[in-house]
Amino acid sequence: MTQRNIVTRTWGSSVGKKSVMAVTGVIFLLFVIAHMIGNLKIFFGQETFDAYSEHLRTLGAEIFGYGGILWIIRVVLVGSVLLHMAAAFSLWYRAKRARPIGYQHKAYPGSYAARTMRWGGVIIALFVIWHILDLTTGTVNPDPGGGAYEKLVASFDRPVVAIFYIVAMIALGFHIRHGLWSGIQTLGGNSAIRQNSLKAFSLVVAVVVTAGFVIIPLSVMFGLVR
Ligand code: HEM
Repeated sequence: MTQRNIVTRTWGSSVGKKSVMAVTGVIFLLFVIAHMIGNLKIFFGQETFDAYSEHLRTLGAEIFGYGGILWIIRVVLVGSVLLHMAAAFSLWYRAKRARPIGYQHKAYPGSYAARTMRWGGVIIALFVIWHILDLTTGTVNPDPGGGAYEKLVASFDRPVVAIFYIVAMIALGFHIRHGLWSGIQTLGGNSAIRQNSLKAFSLVVAVVVTAGFVIIPLSVMFGLVR
């Protein structure tokens, strides 16, 4: 099979598109977990947190230059998100064309999470755009000239913003719970016996990620981090 064939065949089938969603979803999930762990350094104080932020830029600088690794991560993430969204949209469009009348609300198959995947995805995408303008470029941050720690505290000192982050992290949790379960099945974990453990595993990952993120805006709101 030529390379073009592999790409066309993968993108041409529903299973192929679902695999693209699963693989890009896993890439994003790994980033999200690493990011969550890194963020928890906020509890070790401003110096540690700012040093961590700087370290992200100096990592591998001898080979890739200052910030080089970060740029590689950015490119992989943007590519993954675009593919993930394109596959989701294409699968949705294909299902809609195959069933133009649409489901009766009550007859809609799947769990609450399955039905909210699309809206969850949109909320997360909007969140990421705001988040980059807030904490990376500083465009919408009250302390744009500050370091990573100062920007973070200044941002969550605005209750509306802190609540928006919390809502987005809950949406992320729902997205992970259903997406991880569904993605593992797509990639071959589809056995009836494992269903319950798979569901429990996805739930635990989702709760840990949401809790690990949400604790930060909450800590700023309640004055534990200042
Ligand atoms: C309460 C939750 C979160 C906090 C406190 C937080 C904190 C931060 C901070 C401080 C930065 C700037 C790092 C630096 O430049 O040194 C950052 C960047 C970033 N965060 Fe988050 N983050 C959170 C949730 C998320 C989530 C859920 C995602 C993805 C779904 C995400 C994706 C990103 C991305 C893509 C960047 C930009 C990296 C770059 O291009 O420099 N963050 N975050």
